[in-house]
Amino acid sequence: MLNLGILISGRGSNMESILKSVKREKSIINSAIVISNKPDAKGLKIAEKLGVKTEIIESKNFKGTRWQYDKKIIASLTKHGVTPQEGLVCLAGFMRIISPEFVKKYKNRIINIHPALLPAFPGLDSQKQALDYGVKHTGCTVHFVDAGMDTGPIIIQAVVKIKEKDTEDSLSKRILKQEHEIYPKAVKLFAKNKIKISGRKTIIS
Ligand code: GRF
Repeated sequence: MLNLGILISGRGSNMESILKSVKREKSIINSAIVISNKPDAKGLKIAEKLGVKTEIIESKNFKGTRWQYDKKIIASLTKHGVTPQEGLVCLAGFMRIISPEFVKKYKNRIINIHPALLPAFPGLDSQKQALDYGVKHTGCTVHFVDAGMDTGPIIIQAVVKIKEKDTEDSLSKRILKQEHEIYPKAVKLFAKNKIKISGRKTIIS
């Protein structure tokens, strides 16, 4: 059984798609905890409605270091069974950079969704970056989290064609639809032990 911890900061639509798909795969994945660094994150209510435990670990006025904050997250994850041995941590719109110590402790056990075809357009406002650059296709990427910014081994990508009349909003909506498809898929692959990492690459069996 894989214990799932999801970290959010806002809307939580990716979290919702994961939790709903996990409900259908109850036998292999336990949705253990949703943690938000923001008390007003909309996703918290969605998680509660879906019967998943939530916790707020506010980061706004936290005075310590990044690692000290992350240790609070890890304490909550651990309490709910999301350990480096039996857990998976999904970053789903979690608007914080996590510390190298956290990444090291949960080596190859933290995954993220990014709204672009990495390595193109890492960081913030990726949909706008893609439009401004003039690419014809963009998309989204689920990847392992390593010490860099959006640089870990890629698990799944989905391509979205850019239309001439696209705005940041219309493009973001189409990308989000694909995000909701590929993120739960990646979680399931992980739970079924079907992802092997070989250097920069992942091999999906
Ligand atoms: C998504 O676009 C995701 O790719 C990015 O942050 C956004 C989170 O949206 N990392 P939501 O909170 O899952 O609705």
